[in-house]
Order: sequence, then C-alpha cells, then structure tokens
Amino acid sequence: MNLHKEQSIGVFDSGVGGLTIAHAIKLTLPNEKIIYFGDTAHLPYGDKSSESIKYYSKNIAKFLVEQNCKVVMIACNTASAHAYQDVREAVGDKAIVINVIEPLIDFIKFKPKINNIGIIGTKGTIESSVYQSKLKALNMSLNVIAKATPMFVPMIEEGFIYDDISNAIIRAYLSESDFDKIDSLVLACTHYPLIKNQIRKFFNFKVDVIDSSQIVANYVKSVLTEMNLLSESTEHNNEFYVSDYTKMFETIARMFFEEDIQLKKLDIWT
Ligand code: DGL
Repeated sequence: MNLHKEQSIGVFDSGVGGLTIAHAIKLTLPNEKIIYFGDTAHLPYGDKSSESIKYYSKNIAKFLVEQNCKVVMIACNTASAHAYQDVREAVGDKAIVINVIEPLIDFIKFKPKINNIGIIGTKGTIESSVYQSKLKALNMSLNVIAKATPMFVPMIEEGFIYDDISNAIIRAYLSESDFDKIDSLVLACTHYPLIKNQIRKFFNFKVDVIDSSQIVANYVKSVLTEMNLLSESTEHNNEFYVSDYTKMFETIARMFFEEDIQLKKLDIWT
C-alpha cells in the first residue's frame, strides 16, 4: 500500500449516523480532510439483507478510494457487522479499512466494573450477534442483554431528536425489565449518539451509556500516527455526498460541521 499523508479520510454510513463519527474525527484530527458518503437512497441498512449491505458497502468503499482516501471508515455498525471482510477484500490493498466495532470492544476490555451490559442497535447488528459474541469472548460471566431498536433510525433521520415522540419511543423500547439491572449500555448504532442524552435521562443518569464516536476517532488517530500518515495541511474543504437528497441530512450535517456545506447528490450505482 502506497499511502501518503495528504490523502483524505473517507467515512460512510446509510445516513446521518456516521456524521457522529466524522464529527469526532474532525475534532480529534482537524488537519484531516473528510469525504463523507451518506447512502440515503438505501436507508435504513438495519433491515436489509446481508448481501445488499455488502454490495452497497463495497461500492461506496471503491468510490471513496477513487476520491483518493487513505482510510475507509465504515461508520455504521450494521455495515461493520456484515460487510467488513468484504470491504477489506475490495479495497484493503489501497486504503486502511476501519470498522466501528473493534475499537469499542477494545475500549470495553479495559473498562472495570461491568457486570450487566445492554446493547441496542439495528436488527441487522443485533441479529448478527457480533457484539454479543465479542463481549462474551472478553468475559464469559458478563451478562449481555441485546435488543434491536429499529424505530430509532427513521425517527432520528426525520429529526425527532429532543421531543415527546423520541421520549415515547425510547420508553417503549427500554422499559423492559431486563434493562432494570444493566450498569452499562452500548449504543451499537452510529445514529444513537444523537439521542444519547435522552437515553441517559431515561435511566436517571445511573447507567453508563457508551457511544463509539470519540473512541473510534482516537483509534483512527492512533493508526495514522503509527503509520506516519497524519495530514499536516490546514487547507482543505470537507466533502459531503448523499445518494438521495434530504433536507434533514443537510440540517444535521450543518449542525455538526459549522461550515458552508455543499451537499452533492451522487448515484454511484448506475
Ligand atoms: N447508523 C447505522 C448503524 O450504525 C445504520 C442504521 C440503519 O441504516 O439502519 O447501524
């Protein structure tokens, strides 16, 4: 692999969720240029087949490599659970491929005092059992309570973030008695940090709600530092692509990146 410092970091997700990761990367590594692809035409990934998720992910990864990216960041748990190996096979000889699951598991490995851990994510992520098996491999005696919460993604994409509707849906999913005993909760979907405060409030701030954005950004930094690939330039414009235009994507992208975002609609499939 012949990579150089001034290449970009490519980040993708089905929609706005990956912006939570892109934003953390921007704060942690302000010199890096980010190229973001939100596959809004195929959203949500959470209820798609594994084959479809692999197909979308590989093509987006190839597009990001064509845009001269040194990193392909799979900023989506569903795609990380189903398509990480396929993306590596497709572009791993041209870019560093990073998923969102490994850094989070590494983080939990060194976290003391977790006995009962909840995981919430899309159907695709929870049914893949990737988190459940990786957490059990860390510690067999860990009690893992996993639940798919599929309404959260469309709710967030529609902008229902700090209101009665989101509170009612959070309550409906998390009121189950299994969640009464958890000490930690993993947000295994990159959309969920947008409702993290409400989830913390739902548990009266007694549960440690873990989201991967800063953990993943630190991981990207350590990989680039180790490979001597950190950008030194301060002159760059981040780029944002979507496969279908939505007003809400633009609004949320502006909320995270306080810059004049030119959202480009791009069909990479035809
Ligand atoms: N943000 C994504 C995830 O982390 C995808 C959600 C979806 O499209 O269903 O899984």
